[in-house]
Amino acid sequence: MSVMTPQVIKLTDEEYKLFRDMVYEYSGIFFQEHKKYIIENRLSRRLKQLNFTAFKDYYYYLKYDRKKDEELVELMNLLTINETYFFREPGQLKHMINTAIPQLLKTKTDRVLRIWSAACSTGEEPYSISILIKESGVLPAGYRVEIFGTDLSMDAVNKGKSARYRKISFRSTDPRYMKYFKGDGTDFTVNADVRMPVKLDRGNLLLSSDTGRYRNMDIIFCRNVLIYFDKESKKRVIGNLSRSLQPQGFLYIGHSETLFGISDEFRMNNFGEGIVYTKK
Ligand SMILES: C[S@@+](CC[C@H](N)C(=O)[O-])C[C@H]1O[C@@H](n2cnc3c(N)ncnc32)[C@H](O)[C@@H]1O
Repeated sequence: MSVMTPQVIKLTDEEYKLFRDMVYEYSGIFFQEHKKYIIENRLSRRLKQLNFTAFKDYYYYLKYDRKKDEELVELMNLLTINETYFFREPGQLKHMINTAIPQLLKTKTDRVLRIWSAACSTGEEPYSISILIKESGVLPAGYRVEIFGTDLSMDAVNKGKSARYRKISFRSTDPRYMKYFKGDGTDFTVNADVRMPVKLDRGNLLLSSDTGRYRNMDIIFCRNVLIYFDKESKKRVIGNLSRSLQPQGFLYIGHSETLFGISDEFRMNNFGEGIVYTKK
């Protein structure tokens, strides 16, 4: 009788706590008690690739091996949830074009608009921003836009850099915007003129050494990521974003997220189709 290798390597409660704390300290992502199966399922295959038979061995590898920094990047590729799509939460995007940008242009002292899509996952958000700025003609002649996209997952960032997307990414896209893509019915590539102002890079929102690379931003999008953090991580991340944003700059967070009890550095404005924060 052949002995089958089990698909999933067992994660003990003690090991789960070690991984949960490690992930939390590194990324701010907080796995609750009932999420043990996620770590068990997603990391088992990685353990096998590295020839580990127990989670504890993998934990020590992540902590002490000379390749630990590269492996932490891999760990985050496996544990982050990268769900996103083009033109997500369109009310906020409309507000950016119709209200935020015109308002910013009134007081701008230089001719560069800087927008940061923080936690941009595979890039649909920064490319949507680029398309809308182009389509609307909101920027007067002589002005240009720089759109930065960052994410903790290197795999997601690399996918964004490839700028190739499947149909599922367009589930909320008005057909009139498809002219900004070249497609064969299955794969769609973002046109070069939309890609040009977009710069994608890996970055951890919890680390001021990473977020400090983005200064004097006029607008920041940080949507659908605060939900993965506890209150302490939210405070750290929002503090970091606040330092990157110009006074009177705009911050958009996800519709199920709030800065209530997190920061008093922002004014909240409910504009009907959504919420926007401005830096005081
Ligand atoms: C659900 S996606 C949201 C994507 C996009 N903002 C949107 O609203 O469609 C959440 C992203 O947050 C990223 N993330 C999680 N923790 C992070 C951190 N500490 N720093 C940067 N990105 C992080 C994940 O890798 C993931 O791609």
